[in-house]
Amino acid sequence: MRFPTLLVSLTAAILSNSARAEPIDAKKLLDAAQQSFQPLAPTPLAKDSLQAVRAELGRRLFFENRVSMDGNVSCSHCHLPDKQASDGLPKAIGVFGKENPRNAPSIFNAALNFKQHWRGDRESLEEQAEKSLLGPASFGNPDQASAMGKLKAIPAYAGAFAKAFPDDKDPINPKNWGTAVAAFEWTLLTPSKFDAFLSGDANALSPQEAAGLSKFIDTGCATCHNGAGVGGNSFQKFGVTGDYWKETGSKTPDKGRADVTKDDADLYVFKVPSLRNAAKTAPYFHDGSVEDLARAVKIMGKVQLGKTLSDKDAADIVAFLGSLTGAVPANYSAPEPYPDAGAK
Ligand code: HEC
Ligand code: HEC
Repeated sequence: MRFPTLLVSLTAAILSNSARAEPIDAKKLLDAAQQSFQPLAPTPLAKDSLQAVRAELGRRLFFENRVSMDGNVSCSHCHLPDKQASDGLPKAIGVFGKENPRNAPSIFNAALNFKQHWRGDRESLEEQAEKSLLGPASFGNPDQASAMGKLKAIPAYAGAFAKAFPDDKDPINPKNWGTAVAAFEWTLLTPSKFDAFLSGDANALSPQEAAGLSKFIDTGCATCHNGAGVGGNSFQKFGVTGDYWKETGSKTPDKGRADVTKDDADLYVFKVPSLRNAAKTAPYFHDGSVEDLARAVKIMGKVQLGKTLSDKDAADIVAFLGSLTGAVPANYSAPEPYPDAGAK
């Protein structure tokens, strides 16, 4: 009787295996997803509140070229509205055409990151914005006073900063620049289809997006890319099961956080990036070494989890990542610049 029993259990195994390819139970998937992710919860700013006034000033500053050494670089130079707030380049180009050592991430939803930059070498949005003024491959100012001098030379900023920082005697200062720019960045959260799903609409995702989400969770991607940002809340080694550069083809491996902390334990450690809007922010990784998202997904499977993903798995996960694309916020556009001094 052994043989038939084996046959029965084999058949059962085959049946249950094929049952897994059946359409996904949307309610179960929603329950599983809610264990790992939270929907974005943008809070609209009360009109005319101090925070709203600062965000509006921050928007103007974000698109202000005249604060850079060559007069051509604003924050938006590398975080472009038509590129989902990234720039489409492997590595960003700043003042006088100088190349940045790393790729420009999208800044949409960056307000949710636990630290800023690939290596987490900026604690907050405020610190990030202040230090950009001096970055030799961003604005290139020799010191903060030089940057503030450029703003002070544009007459309308005196009133705008005074309105946003009414208690300050000398409101055009680097700290207030950082505060205003960060207030603007807090307005740049981009809810997507995935948030509708997480908020309870179990049918918000297409069958392929749902299949991709299911694989994203089952493969282990969500052990690192989780929370409201689908990433952005931990540091992890890039290359857990093998050297990343062998897969990405990176010429000179970046040592990651080890160069920041001087601690060997941080060798090749980077911030786990948020995957919101990733479908629109090629090329990928800290050095922009990979152009194609499906390839980036397969590399992740291989070097982070030691798993080989099929073309179908990667395509489904890419479809899921597409469901994380939100609309470009209406205020992510340049206002009419203030006139120069002496302009009529
Ligand atoms: C020359 C191009 C360039 C300019 C100009 C620039 N950035 Fe960036 N931005 C980058 C690059 C490159 C990174 C990644 C740097 C790193 O990780 O070492 C980055 C990272 C960031 C991050 C962190 C995002 C994350 O997910 O970690 C924020 C926020 C940001 N920039 C905001 C700004 C603001 C605000 C300004 C203007 C004050 C600005 N950037 C100006 C290129 C630029
Ligand atoms: C052990 C943690 C970990 C796991 C598991 C993991 N990732 Fe990542 N992921 C990272 C880190 C760290 C980076 C940043 C790598 C770098 O320095 O460029 C990253 C980067 C990415 C990027 C590039 C994002 C960008 O904007 O350039 C994508 C896409 C991505 N992961 C998708 C996935 C997918 C899909 C899976 C599952 C197959 C996965 N990840 C599993 C940690 C992880």
